[in-house]
Amino acid sequence: MTVPFLNLAAQHAALKNEISDAVEKVLNGGHYILGPNVTEFEKEVAAFTETKFGVGVNSGSDALTLALRALEIGAGDEVITSPFTYIAPAESIHQVGAKIVFADIDPRTFCLDPNEVAKKISPRTKAIIPVHLFGQAAPLNEIRALADSRGIAIIEDCAQAIGAKYSEQSVGSFGRLGCFSFYPTKNLGADGDGGMVVTNDESLAKKLRMLRVHGIEKRYYHDLHGFNSRLDEIQAAILRVKLPHLNRWNARRAEIAARYTNAFATLPLQLPVAAPGNTHIFHVYAVLSEQRDALQRFLGDNGVPVLIYYPLALHLQKVYADLNFQRGDFLVAEQISEKILPLPMYPELTNEQVDYVCELVGKFFAKHA
Ligand SMILES: Cc1ncc(COP(=O)(O)O)c(C=O)c1O
Repeated sequence: MTVPFLNLAAQHAALKNEISDAVEKVLNGGHYILGPNVTEFEKEVAAFTETKFGVGVNSGSDALTLALRALEIGAGDEVITSPFTYIAPAESIHQVGAKIVFADIDPRTFCLDPNEVAKKISPRTKAIIPVHLFGQAAPLNEIRALADSRGIAIIEDCAQAIGAKYSEQSVGSFGRLGCFSFYPTKNLGADGDGGMVVTNDESLAKKLRMLRVHGIEKRYYHDLHGFNSRLDEIQAAILRVKLPHLNRWNARRAEIAARYTNAFATLPLQLPVAAPGNTHIFHVYAVLSEQRDALQRFLGDNGVPVLIYYPLALHLQKVYADLNFQRGDFLVAEQISEKILPLPMYPELTNEQVDYVCELVGKFFAKHA
């Protein structure tokens, strides 16, 4: 048996007719940029995330950059984020000219550790970007307790966590701004790039709408230094077909996660845990193993190729050499990057496929005990 690490075509096949109809309608309608599907999808995502406004942009990365720009964060400012995540939040801080400040993560959830964040706050700190990594919320109450009293803004990176809840409330609704990605592999994935910023603040929403189209409110009159960063109308139409299925897909992911966890209970692995009060949507199901590389090879040799993320903590990336970080600066992030092993996780996996992965992992440890 083989178990693909991802299978985006399987989701498409299940919704093929609806998606084709939605795309055809856009094409026949002739309104290709910021049309009715973007407007409606913004309302739908705002409702889904329990916020008032959604602003569609062209990626999760741009969502973060525009969020920082909307808050007028730039040169001379510091923004705290995680060194163990996809590079986008750090990149967005660099994009606006602010200083990237990393804080180490919690060894169980891999999200920002509030005690480490506290150590990194300075008078220049203007924002914290907690990343809701792998599908569960960062400790928002603790981070808010640090931020609110100091006038520091929270920008939630919800790229991997659409549908996740923290104390029964949707991620994205806690910070000044919440940023989502619709990259195809995300729990709600487009058939191309896409992103959204959500907020309860009407003036920020208005500013974001201007920033995404060259800083205009009225065409050809430019009030802000802007971007070309719009959610595509065709992608919005496709995402509107998919959104009603998201809760069901997330529930199936949780079911698969439980199946893995149950099968691995007695193995020498650290398994994913949802922090108390968190509804985890299992964008990623990753185990930690002392024998990660050998286990990855064994799975690959037996039809289950898996991809490691993230193999190198961000502070050690070549691109940030000029920031002069050292090995050992963020020990938890470094150790996790050496042990982490994501397993196949998408709603279309069959129980037989999941059981095959479980069987292989069991076989590996029977040999390597
Ligand atoms: C945590 C996180 N933030 C931001 C992004 C950026 O999203 P996009 O790829 O849509 O630019 C991603 C993923 O791609 C991500 O995983």
